[in-house]
Amino acid sequence: MFYALLGILTAFCTTGIAQPSPEELAPLIAGLENRPHEIEARVPLSTDDPTVVPLISMQVFAPPSTPRNGKSCSVTLLQHTFGDGSYNTPAVVPYTPPTNSDCGEIGKWATISLNLSVYSIGTQYDRLSAVYLSHSEIWRHSSAEPTKTGTIWNTVKDVTHFAALFSKPGPLMMDFSNIIAPDLLLDGVFNVTITATFNAPTKSFPAAVTSDTIIPLSNLSPTLPNFFAISDDIGAVTNVIFPSSAIEAYVEVFCSGNSAEEFWYLNTPDEFVANFPASTGVTGKGPFREVQVLVDDKIAGVVWPYAVIYTGGITPSNWRPLTSYGAYDQPTYWVDITPFIPLLVDKTNTTHTVTLRVVGQGLSPPSYNSNWFVSGSIHIRTGTGPTSGKMTKYDVPRLEIATTGGTSDSNATVWTKVVAHRRLNIESELIMGDGGKVKASFSQNLDYSNVARYIDDGWIQWGVQSTTGTTLATHQGKQVLRDAFDYPLSVFSNYSLYSQEFGSYNSEINQTHIRALQQPFDASRQRTIRSIQQARGHVWMDNWPGLRHAINATGATEQSFAYIDGRGETYFREVAAKDDGWKKDRVWGSLRNGNPPLPPTQFRTVHMELEDRRRPLRTHNNLIGR
Ligand SMILES: *[C@@H]1O[C@H](CO)[C@@H](O)[C@H](O)[C@H]1NC(C)=O
Ligand SMILES: *[C@@H]1O[C@H](CO)[C@@H](O)[C@H](O)[C@H]1NC(C)=O
Ligand SMILES: *[C@@H]1O[C@H](CO)[C@@H](O)[C@H](O)[C@H]1NC(C)=O
Ligand SMILES: *[C@@H]1O[C@H](CO)[C@@H](O)[C@H](O)[C@H]1NC(C)=O
Ligand SMILES: *[C@@H]1O[C@H](CO)[C@@H](O)[C@H](O)[C@H]1NC(C)=O
Ligand SMILES: *[C@@H]1O[C@H](CO)[C@@H](O)[C@H](O)[C@H]1NC(C)=O
Ligand SMILES: *[C@@H]1O[C@H](CO)[C@@H](O)[C@H](O)[C@H]1NC(C)=O
Repeated sequence: MFYALLGILTAFCTTGIAQPSPEELAPLIAGLENRPHEIEARVPLSTDDPTVVPLISMQVFAPPSTPRNGKSCSVTLLQHTFGDGSYNTPAVVPYTPPTNSDCGEIGKWATISLNLSVYSIGTQYDRLSAVYLSHSEIWRHSSAEPTKTGTIWNTVKDVTHFAALFSKPGPLMMDFSNIIAPDLLLDGVFNVTITATFNAPTKSFPAAVTSDTIIPLSNLSPTLPNFFAISDDIGAVTNVIFPSSAIEAYVEVFCSGNSAEEFWYLNTPDEFVANFPASTGVTGKGPFREVQVLVDDKIAGVVWPYAVIYTGGITPSNWRPLTSYGAYDQPTYWVDITPFIPLLVDKTNTTHTVTLRVVGQGLSPPSYNSNWFVSGSIHIRTGTGPTSGKMTKYDVPRLEIATTGGTSDSNATVWTKVVAHRRLNIESELIMGDGGKVKASFSQNLDYSNVARYIDDGWIQWGVQSTTGTTLATHQGKQVLRDAFDYPLSVFSNYSLYSQEFGSYNSEINQTHIRALQQPFDASRQRTIRSIQQARGHVWMDNWPGLRHAINATGATEQSFAYIDGRGETYFREVAAKDDGWKKDRVWGSLRNGNPPLPPTQFRTVHMELEDRRRPLRTHNNLIGR
């Protein structure tokens, strides 16, 4: 068409007749403008074009292993829109166990998995959310920062170990505290659908062995978010009455830092805070955090959490559309409290306490900043009669922790180093209802180091952290829980121009999650994950409308993900995203179909990459980051 038009022009010129008038060309221009609306491949975040397919945002996850040829059923558990007024107002719906025969016998499922699917269009911060069944938290999730053309994210999680809760009716609660504020341009609501898939057992995939009783460690509120928001050194205390026939008991812990604790691993030791001017906004209380599980005020075990970076974290453009590992399904942690059973059941129907506490490095209390969200549940297996016994070893030395550091004469550079080590070993002899004896042993051996370097009054920071360790529980010599992990994290963040009216900030983050986790009750529920991520991004800002506001951004994230479970099922994914679009996605392994590659419409063509360079990206988000 274009060449034909040129031909006509040439013809007009050679005959010396005047150029076509604007009026003559108007129908052509209008015709071009009126191109048919069809779904195109993704274009950058600059676009407001509603014909563009919604962006698929993703936290890479391995889908659960499920029986290959058995029966299964899917049930929609919850559909809810979290918009204006949803802050601190969870959706609560009744849950009842599925009765359809394809689902399998209640409580005798091979697997239970949840699919949490969210759609959002507009502008919104990353918001934290949590799902609870009968007041036990079963999923902690954070949101994408959506786009003007819509963003979708789907995550599937194995929740088989909550079978005891899924076997009885109870409230299903989802908190997704969102704020709609037109004056801040925050208009993104979250449309959520949660479906559950129940798989009946087969010959080769029998019913899962799970706890038979689950006690929530939560505030039990019927209407408010059930996790505890804590900011003191006392922690969150739950009174529990243990079944006298308990023979195994494990605490699963959910925990995340919030507000001044969101980036706890970049916080500065109090000893060095005074080296920075107040204007830099350096946060104190140091980078080390320990989440403790206490039974009747005695430490039963600890968690040194993996740092989940949310989609608005440090530099938001790093995480769109590929998030940091854990953003949509935060890891949880296990402590075997079986060695405490003799103390918990010594007198029937007496109340004991289980406490979730966070310990930081603050020189004066509280030891950490406000606040942490903690919750969990106790997964108990009961036997045939009353259990007794005694604790035979309680070897829980103090946490070893040392902080060092230094400054140059002018405070132009500051460095700090925090090193911590914790080991513990708790053993008991349990006498079961049938007279059988079991020696229960729980041990942990954990190491931590964090080296931070600051220049430019703290506006530029390098933080290099290593968290490694092994948690091990054996019952009568048999391994019942193992968590061996290595979470290196390295963050370079540059806020040197942040305070300027038209400023910018940027970061580079390397984060690895290597973890072999054998969950309690069922050795086949063993999962080994190796996720390696590298992300870098740059956000430019103006100061309108009163808040620093992102005007454009770049971001590039790559991830290599590998997974194998106790059944030998595998999942591998190599994925890369750049400037709000997908660049590469290769998926293989036996579980590939459970979480397949992104559809072709999510990828940008070479042509579109060239377009990007000509047209600067604009974000519409009030991204503050950090
Ligand atoms: C999860 O649910 C969403 C929305 O219902 C659906 O599009 C997606 O395919 C589901 N994913 C899986 C793995 O079932
Ligand atoms: C999201 O929820 C709103 C309000 O319920 C509804 O109007 C809209 O159609 C929903 N969007 C999608 C894509 O489900
Ligand atoms: C460096 O920080 C220390 C600790 O606050 C302070 O005493 C000292 O005056 C600072 N030096 C300079 C040159 O700012
Ligand atoms: C313990 O409490 C349960 C439930 O309240 C009650 O059924 C049981 O009789 C009590 N047992 C004893 C020994 O008090
Ligand atoms: C991240 O890893 C890359 C490749 O090893 C390295 O070049 C880069 O310096 C690292 N960045 C940070 C912030 O550690
Ligand atoms: C920090 O960012 C600014 C603005 O992009 C840049 O000029 C400066 O070189 C960066 N500093 C470092 C240490 O990378
Ligand atoms: C973003 O905008 C700023 C200010 O106009 C400009 O300096 C910068 O180069 C832009 N960045 C991109 C990626 O377009």
